[in-house]
Amino acid sequence: MNSTNAKGGGAARKGAPSLDMTNIPRHIAIIMDGNGRWAKKRGLPRTAGHAAGAETFRKIAKYCKRLGVEYLTVYAFSTENWKRPAEEVGAIMKLLEDYLNEAIVKMRKEGIRIKILGDIQGLSPKIRELIRKTEELSQGMEGCQANLCINYGGRDEIVRAINALSEKIKNGETVTEEMVSDNLYTKGIPDPELIIRPSGELRLSNFLLWQCAYSEFYFDDVLWPDFSEENMERAIIAYQNRERRFGGI
Ligand code: IPE
Ligand code: IPE
Ligand code: MG
Repeated sequence: MNSTNAKGGGAARKGAPSLDMTNIPRHIAIIMDGNGRWAKKRGLPRTAGHAAGAETFRKIAKYCKRLGVEYLTVYAFSTENWKRPAEEVGAIMKLLEDYLNEAIVKMRKEGIRIKILGDIQGLSPKIRELIRKTEELSQGMEGCQANLCINYGGRDEIVRAINALSEKIKNGETVTEEMVSDNLYTKGIPDPELIIRPSGELRLSNFLLWQCAYSEFYFDDVLWPDFSEENMERAIIAYQNRERRFGGI
């Protein structure tokens, strides 16, 4: 087995198992949770937690790129997160805007292409325009694809697929799993092998409900702003030690 510590990433720990670079998941998904609690612990406003969480995303995306992960999908704002105070929602949207502006300049150099998954009609015209620009610049780009789930809900995604297929159903066509997959935001993207949730919560909160059918789950107590390359490395090593049976024996 070709085992090595990922260069430039998580520090090698003496005696600790190391990453098998021949078995890196193609697609890793993360529920970026715990920003608010991180800020509260420090006596800071929740918005400071979101800013710190955005920094962590930048760091982890670069690490995934170095490891050769093809798709990194992160849950940044759910269809239910609109329930939060307008000030907090506004701050999250501003961080998204800043990130997209930055991505437009840096994306090609960093080799991380951006795609947004979710109902972008619910976002401001300014952000929609930035998304359009970012995705246009991403066309034909190699490297790691970062899927940012914004105004994303797994149920909403499935309901949209059903509606998109309704005409075909009316015409007597039989719906297949492939047809459903092709009508999700993740069309063309393989299902995530590994889903990570930091912050100690043990639930999916409406994330990738269809795509997670055979994903491996990894939960970590660390709050997202404190999530490090080492935490990521541990999650991948845990994944590499699982036996995936897909219903077989
Ligand atoms: C995750 O952190 C970010 C979003 C959901 C937008 P939270 O804001 O949910 O942080 P906690 O869970 O309250 O600590
Ligand atoms: C899930 O976190 C959504 C994101 C991380 C964007 P939440 O904090 O919204 O989830 P719940 O409310 O704890 O289930
Ligand atoms: Mg939360």
